[in-house]
Amino acid sequence: MITTDIKKAVSVLQQDGIIGLPTETVYGLAGSAFSEKAIKAIYTIKNRPFENPLIVHLPNKEVIQAIVKEIPEEIEFLLETFSPGPVTFILPKKPTISDLVTAGKPNVAFRIPSHPTAIEVLEKIDFPLVAPSANPFQRISPVTAQQVDDYFNKEELLVLEGGTSYLGIESTILGFENNSVVMYREGYLTKNEIEKYLNYSIQDKSDAKAVTAPGMYKKHYAPSCPMIIALDIEKEIERWQHKKIGLLTLQPTNFKVYHSIGLSTTGTTKEALSNLYNAMHVLEKAKVDLIITQIFPNDAHGFIINQRIIKASYI
Ligand code: TXA
Ligand code: MG
Repeated sequence: MITTDIKKAVSVLQQDGIIGLPTETVYGLAGSAFSEKAIKAIYTIKNRPFENPLIVHLPNKEVIQAIVKEIPEEIEFLLETFSPGPVTFILPKKPTISDLVTAGKPNVAFRIPSHPTAIEVLEKIDFPLVAPSANPFQRISPVTAQQVDDYFNKEELLVLEGGTSYLGIESTILGFENNSVVMYREGYLTKNEIEKYLNYSIQDKSDAKAVTAPGMYKKHYAPSCPMIIALDIEKEIERWQHKKIGLLTLQPTNFKVYHSIGLSTTGTTKEALSNLYNAMHVLEKAKVDLIITQIFPNDAHGFIINQRIIKASYI
């Protein structure tokens, strides 16, 4: 059930429970990073494999040193530049963080969200929160409280209302290997933007084969109906004309289909990226038979959209 009562949400967390938590990227399924019970509940409710570790959410930069061994200078610089905000860092952990959080890995992923509700919750408790995106394994990350509730109302999950996640796509995940910055998942913050600040190219490991980071499973971010990436939208619509088609394009179009969404009125891929997950949820809720979409322009943000829709359309 959805609530605006922060005190109630905090009290659930203090009693080893879990909640749906709004953040600026996507909603998370949050519980105490120090509670075995809460962590296990998160894996169970998400149906997430235990080898896939969780991100620790912190209220501010001061508490980082309580969970990681040391912060390399470049990461310190990136933290100053981009945190709080849509960026997660992976660094060697201190024993304060249990193996359950990191799936036995020696490193912990952490981020400082910038969403006012998330910050308020984190400031009211005296433990960090683990929070994966609040979707069942391989489904689309939710960006509204209602979407979280739709996924988990049977489990009677308490979902804290925080409006629509205004960035609408997951955080970018960075680490540090062999003295340089590495990217494991490209999210709202693009590789280009990070490199502009660093003044050097970062290693991109987001397409590595191994399942060591998010989005590395082939099928991911998927709606419950099939999704087709069309080279020729008109032809594809004609081919499926007897079906309830959900159409997802960069800008609004005049095609006559069951439900059509243009992701950006101005045609910018940055705006489209922020609206992508919400639009996929809207089409899913409209019970379309299939989603037809396009390949997006291959600029920095369009590239991230393409990555997500390719994973969403994987059968
Ligand atoms: O924007 C976000 O990052 C959202 C919001 C809720 O903060 N969270 C999120 O969490 O996207 P999740 O669990 O859906 O994706 C995080 C990914 C996981 O798939 C996991 O593989 C990777 O981060 N990860 C977490 N801890 C890690 C670690 N210690 N080492 C390597 N990868 C890690
Ligand atoms: Mg996720």
